[in-house]
Amino acid sequence: MRQKILVTGGAGYIGAHTASVLDKEGYEPVLLDNFSNSDRTLLSGLRKITGKQITFHEGDCNDRSLLHSIFQKEGDIAAVIHFAARRYVGESVEKPLYYYRNNVGSTITLLEVMLEHGVSDFVFSSSCTVYGQPDELPVTEDTPRKPAESPYGNTKKICEDIIQDTVLSGQPIKAAILRYFNPIGTHPSHLMGEVPHGVPNNLIPFLTQAAVGVRPELVVFGDDYDTPDGSCIRDYIDIMDLAEAHVQALKFLRSTEANSLFEIFNLGIGEGKSVLELIKTFEKATGVSLNYKIGPRRPGDVEKVYANVDKASEVLLWKATRDMSESLYNAWQWQLRLGKH
Ligand code: WQD
Repeated sequence: MRQKILVTGGAGYIGAHTASVLDKEGYEPVLLDNFSNSDRTLLSGLRKITGKQITFHEGDCNDRSLLHSIFQKEGDIAAVIHFAARRYVGESVEKPLYYYRNNVGSTITLLEVMLEHGVSDFVFSSSCTVYGQPDELPVTEDTPRKPAESPYGNTKKICEDIIQDTVLSGQPIKAAILRYFNPIGTHPSHLMGEVPHGVPNNLIPFLTQAAVGVRPELVVFGDDYDTPDGSCIRDYIDIMDLAEAHVQALKFLRSTEANSLFEIFNLGIGEGKSVLELIKTFEKATGVSLNYKIGPRRPGDVEKVYANVDKASEVLLWKATRDMSESLYNAWQWQLRLGKH
């Protein structure tokens, strides 16, 4: 009998890719999504990749009665991976209450319903954004978190604290907090990838849309930073490596006897690459010449951040294996499937 794993935000970019690895590893992903930041594209891609109908519930993690009915209907949910959240820095500055209600409220509701149903294993989607601009690099899980640069980043910090306090109170929750760096790429089948809604927020959709002609050019947000080529540095991690890390975190929780635990893991590749390096890698990997120009810095951008990933390697027995050129080639193939819309 395959263990059922509830994947909130399961129709989203990271959720759907993680669901594909859950299936491959012999688990039964049960998806919940309200399509506020996703659509059926990835759900149909996931069903093609797995060759299974994949159970899907449409709805919101803040809907307590819906969550209860899912736990009751599914009967034996073994664990929860919680992706569902709004994650746009700019939007969060405009709509802070929506972000706190949605991101923080849903986490509280989910934890309460899990406890009522005796489900303890909880993988939480957090972000390197909690580090702000670190004083030292690479960042480890012990690197002090900085005051959030946006309500979005603050919701991640607050959720981490809520989960930690719940564990410290003795409640039977075993939590793995996964701090993502910059996910890129797609499933190797090119049946799933990033599906931006409206103007993309992340670099790669902007880049591939510029390459395919959906937008006239890519604007590089500043080349006057204190980095080798002046552009910002990030830790870009392939989405399949990230998805596999979630399943390793789940296995870690399932194998731990403790009544409760709270562990944080950085999920990156452990080195930084600049925007201009990424552009060169994209052009080499795809043979496409990218139309880009240097523009002004984007307010709130961190100059450089990348991870120390020793803890995930030692505790989760996980390491990123895919290189950037593979990720960017796949992202390009996905954009060609999406076409010019
Ligand atoms: C990456 C780099 C930009 C667009 C992301 C997510 C955030 C959080 C942390 C999940 C930066 C540059 C971008 C463009 C550019 N993830 N850029 N031109 O800012 O690191 O934050 O990771 O929780 O939600 O957004 O990622 O992809 O926006 O930017 O030059 O058109 O690309 O300046 O250096 P970021 P990003």
